[in-house]
Amino acid sequence: MVPALLSPILSRLGLWASGLILVLGFLKLSCLLLRRQKLARAMDSFPGPPTHWLFGHALEMQQTGSLDKVVSWAHQFPYAHPLWFGQLLGFLNIYEPDYAKAVYSRGDPKAPDVYNFFLQWIGKGLLVLEGSKWFQHRKLLTPGFHYDVLKPYVAVFADSTRVMLDKWEEKAREGKSFDIFCDVGRMALDSLMKCTFGRGESGLDDSRDSSYYLAVRDLTLLMQQRLESFQYHNDFIYWLTPHGRRFLQACQVAHNHTDQVIRERKAALQDEKEQKKIQNRRHLDFLDILLCAQDENGVKLSDADLRAEVDTFMFEGHDTTTSGISWFLYCMALYPEHQRRCREEACEILGDRDSFQWDDLGKMTYLTMCIKESFRLYPPVPQVYRQLSKPVSFVDGRCLPAGSLISLHIYALHRNSTVWPDPEVFDPLRFSPENVAGRHPFAFMPFSAGPRNCIGQQFALNEMKVVTALCLLRFEFSLDPTRPPIKTTQLVLRSKNGIHLHLKPLGPGSGK
Ligand code: HEM
Ligand SMILES: *[C@@H]1O[C@H](CO)[C@@H](O)[C@H](O)[C@H]1NC(C)=O
Ligand SMILES: *[C@@H]1O[C@H](CO)[C@@H](O)[C@H](O)[C@H]1NC(C)=O
Repeated sequence: MVPALLSPILSRLGLWASGLILVLGFLKLSCLLLRRQKLARAMDSFPGPPTHWLFGHALEMQQTGSLDKVVSWAHQFPYAHPLWFGQLLGFLNIYEPDYAKAVYSRGDPKAPDVYNFFLQWIGKGLLVLEGSKWFQHRKLLTPGFHYDVLKPYVAVFADSTRVMLDKWEEKAREGKSFDIFCDVGRMALDSLMKCTFGRGESGLDDSRDSSYYLAVRDLTLLMQQRLESFQYHNDFIYWLTPHGRRFLQACQVAHNHTDQVIRERKAALQDEKEQKKIQNRRHLDFLDILLCAQDENGVKLSDADLRAEVDTFMFEGHDTTTSGISWFLYCMALYPEHQRRCREEACEILGDRDSFQWDDLGKMTYLTMCIKESFRLYPPVPQVYRQLSKPVSFVDGRCLPAGSLISLHIYALHRNSTVWPDPEVFDPLRFSPENVAGRHPFAFMPFSAGPRNCIGQQFALNEMKVVTALCLLRFEFSLDPTRPPIKTTQLVLRSKNGIHLHLKPLGPGSGK
């Protein structure tokens, strides 16, 4: 029992505490409203679609078809329009080459309102970092993507692809269409683990990879939903919801996977024989670089920094290419004529050899144009966000102050009909050297552009070429008209119902 003397003191304390919470809550709310007013006022000169009083444009963004909704808004509101997720978070959504150039040619930081949602999962790795630390890590990791490092990966891509194609051979025998997205994902993760994380054949661990793969699928979906639901924006509230707890659980699965990778490589580094091997390698791989990195004072990367980079690359390195390869194969099924030409080219390059070599990649000109055209229509990363560190003025004289938030809608940018006549038509010749030469450098940005562009661009293109060429040599791809894919953004471009295709084995020596 509380002594009688104490109880008035306690009740007074309770009163003070509730008062304090009320005042803090009020202050926080005023800050948010003030910021809202600043964001909204900055965008005064940009008309846009009507907003819901509570949700802003979030309801439209959550609906199926939201990507094409933005394309129709782009027609109505040239260059840019305000885009609100709820009432407190507003971006200027841009989709015009000169607008994109004004922002993306500078190195403005990522919008923390979006990228902070990543922190629990991939921490402060290259994707999220800012300022001098970002610069230092970018400089450190760039040699991990030097072409001498990338060369041997060609054989790794081919091996991982072959495993997938053998599996497809069995599935195709049933004569039914099937979803290719998942299998491509596992293949892309497997080759990433072997290239970037140096996993040997012996280290293959299917069930661990599988749970990681599924966790990433969950995490990207949850993060996209969080972004589009203002009630989840506050960290404190989010972690209390079932949605937030599911996110934390999936994070744990992902972290288990990365921890294991780091642990294994660290153990290998203890081994003298392994150390000799690394010293003899002319170019270190990504994980060697991270583990051996020291600054001029001999200080190594902290465990947290190391883990963040491994988490970042593990995610960025497979989910994006999975989307790219899957949508490319869908395009091939949709346009048999282009499929045939890519296959003929691949046959010709291959001759009587059974796999591709580094020098072959440069010869795949038609395939490369088709890959770019499929990046245009189905960009694996459809939308990226920035916060202006200094004011910007656009070509038409309108401007935005520092602190404003920008959303670059790559999907809508790639469908601008002035730059891309008949934008919905699949035409690889848009990427012939003559046509590229005459085009605005910021009209095509699948890998973003400027100082914060994709560090894995060359890795990704090489992988795309090897994998898709081998796919086309083994199978003929055609559509399942009963199951058209439904485009949806979950950080990367996916399909709500998978990508279902019919595969017809071409048999050995086919087409040669
Ligand atoms: C088709 C495949 C890919 C596409 C379309 C793609 C696209 C992009 C885009 C649009 C960005 C900018 C993101 C932003 O501004 O928020 C980016 C950044 C990044 N990408 Fe990729 N990416 C691909 C493959 C890869 C691969 C294979 C890796 C690693 C092996 C990778 C690693 C990264 C990293 C670390 C960043 C952050 C770079 C920085 O901010 O300095 N990406 N990527
Ligand atoms: C497409 O780009 C052109 C040239 O940059 C621009 O004039 C036009 O307004 C853009 N269209 C849209 C819908 O943004
Ligand atoms: C993480 O790994 C440990 C063992 O290494 C296991 O006991 C635990 O259940 C795993 N957690 C998750 C969420 O997978």
